[in-house]
Amino acid sequence: QDQLKRATARAAVETIAPKLEADSIVGVGTGSTANFFIDYLAEIKGRFDGTVASSEASAERLKSHGIPVYDLNSVDGIRVYVDGADETNPALQLIKGGGAALTREKIVAACAEEFVCIADESKWVPVLGSFPLPVEVIPMARSLVARELVKLGGDPVYRQGVVTDNGNVILDVHNLEIMEPVALEEAINNITGVVTNGIFALRPADLLLLGTAAGVKAFS
Ligand code: A5P
Repeated sequence: QDQLKRATARAAVETIAPKLEADSIVGVGTGSTANFFIDYLAEIKGRFDGTVASSEASAERLKSHGIPVYDLNSVDGIRVYVDGADETNPALQLIKGGGAALTREKIVAACAEEFVCIADESKWVPVLGSFPLPVEVIPMARSLVARELVKLGGDPVYRQGVVTDNGNVILDVHNLEIMEPVALEEAINNITGVVTNGIFALRPADLLLLGTAAGVKAFS
C-alpha cells in the first residue's frame, strides 16, 4: 500500500508542477499519503512561493525540507490543495479526519482554487460511511453532540486521548450509510457544539488520483 501511496503522491507533484508560478501557494494536507507528497514536493521547491499546511505535523515536515509554510491569513489564496482521504466515492465526495485534522483541512480546501485528492484504491467505496465519520466537537458539548448524532442514526465513539490542533475532541460516528452526503454534512454541522465533520461533499475533490495495482488513475 505504501507503494501505491508513493506512486500517487509522485503523480500529484507531476500534475500540479505545470500549474505553479513563482508566487503560487500550495495547500498541503495531512496523513501518510500527504507525507509522501511533501517529500516529492521538496524536489520542486523554489518553483513556487510556499505552502499552507493543514496540521502542525505537516508544517513540521514541510519546514524540515526547507519549504516555506505560511499562515493562511497572510496569503492571498491557494492555487491547489493536495490531501489524502479516508474514503472517496465516485462523485469524489470524501470522508476525512482519520488524522484528526479535518477542520483545518476543510478550511484550506475552502480557500483552494483546485482540490486534488490522493488516495490508494483501498479508499474507493460506492457509498461513504464504512469508515467511522470523524466529527470535531467543542469539549463541553461532547455528550450533547453524541446524543444528536444518535438521533441521526449513528453510533458515536469518543476518540480517547486525542485533542485536535484547535483544542477540541473527536467523535467517530460508526454505522452510517451516507446516501446523501451533502444533506448529512449540513445536518451534522448544524448541531450546536460541532466545529465541523469529516464529510467533504459541499466541497468535494476536483481531481482524484487513485493509486491502483494497474497504475495511478485520474478521476474528475
Ligand atoms: C487526516 O485528518 C485525514 O483526513 C487524512 O487525509 C486521511 O486520514 C488519509 O490518511 P492516509 O494518507 O494516511 O491514509
